[in-house]
Amino acid sequence: MSSPLLPDYRTQSPEVAARFERLRAREVALSVRGLTKNFETPRGIITALNDVSFEVHKRELLSVIGPSGCGKSTLVRILAGLETATSGEVRVYDQPVSGAGPDRGMVFQSYTLFPWLTVKQNVMFGPKIAGRSNYHAESEARQWIELVGLTKFENSYPHQLSGGMKQRVAIARALANQPRVLFMDEPFGALDAQTRCQMQSYLLEIWKNVDITIVFITHDLDEAVYLSDRILVLDANPGRVRELIEVPVPRPRSFQQFVEPEFISTRHHIDSLIHPTQSHVREEFPVLKFTKDDPDVV
Ligand SMILES: Nc1ncnc2c1ncn2[C@@H]1O[C@H](COP(=O)(O)OP(=O)(O)O)[C@@H](O)[C@H]1O
Ligand SMILES: [Mg+2]
Repeated sequence: MSSPLLPDYRTQSPEVAARFERLRAREVALSVRGLTKNFETPRGIITALNDVSFEVHKRELLSVIGPSGCGKSTLVRILAGLETATSGEVRVYDQPVSGAGPDRGMVFQSYTLFPWLTVKQNVMFGPKIAGRSNYHAESEARQWIELVGLTKFENSYPHQLSGGMKQRVAIARALANQPRVLFMDEPFGALDAQTRCQMQSYLLEIWKNVDITIVFITHDLDEAVYLSDRILVLDANPGRVRELIEVPVPRPRSFQQFVEPEFISTRHHIDSLIHPTQSHVREEFPVLKFTKDDPDVV
């Protein structure tokens, strides 16, 4: 997949190399050691994750990418404490974690707002459960809603919002619990292409303005390269770490960078890891012809 016109994805400018040096020197926010998850099913045991290990540093934005079924959701559900691991260890700022906790927040792909509550009430929900007074929960909620640019909609109900706006509320609601690590499982996967691009930019703005470390699950290559410091590439059957890539694209990011050589070479490399060859597609595809071959339709 390498091209003589493209730089090697491992080539970093001095600025980018210095940035990674600083990133590696930061505290470890999330440490995952030897994580294995087996599911017992009527058809036998499925190993969804096999011996997965990695670390995420404070204020890093790490994406996890891999083919469908490689265990991305299982991984993030275990990290968030919504699922138990078969073996292995997860630590957040060096504290072993088991089960869900306020130090970790989660945003899902599907819209998970309470439909009977307004935007403000949805965002206040976590702080109120945590014991904040109505007054404090409300003033905090207002700040998070302002951060995601939805002040005008604080009294709207979820059904009155677009998909992108609902996900912004979901982000505000997760941040209102003041987690130290935020997990996002394909949060923009259900949005149309244009809204998705907008949300990616919003997310970078939010990340810049909040003291948060983000683990972002996606199967979209452009999204992973555009957002991330590093990308954890998983293999399927069983889900395991294929490679951990340092993205050589400088920050701040912009959509103009999509055509820069380092962006394309990184994208190319991940693509070659995830889709090693297209030939099997042709082999598996039955060939039925309902028309003559046309040299212009190939
Ligand atoms: N609750 C479950 N019971 C049995 N198998 C499961 C369960 N959840 C996930 N799996 C299996 O684990 C593998 C990984 O699934 P998942 O984490 O959803 O992958 P991804 O999010 O990467 O598409 C798949 O083979 C899936 O069928
Ligand atoms: Mg998934």
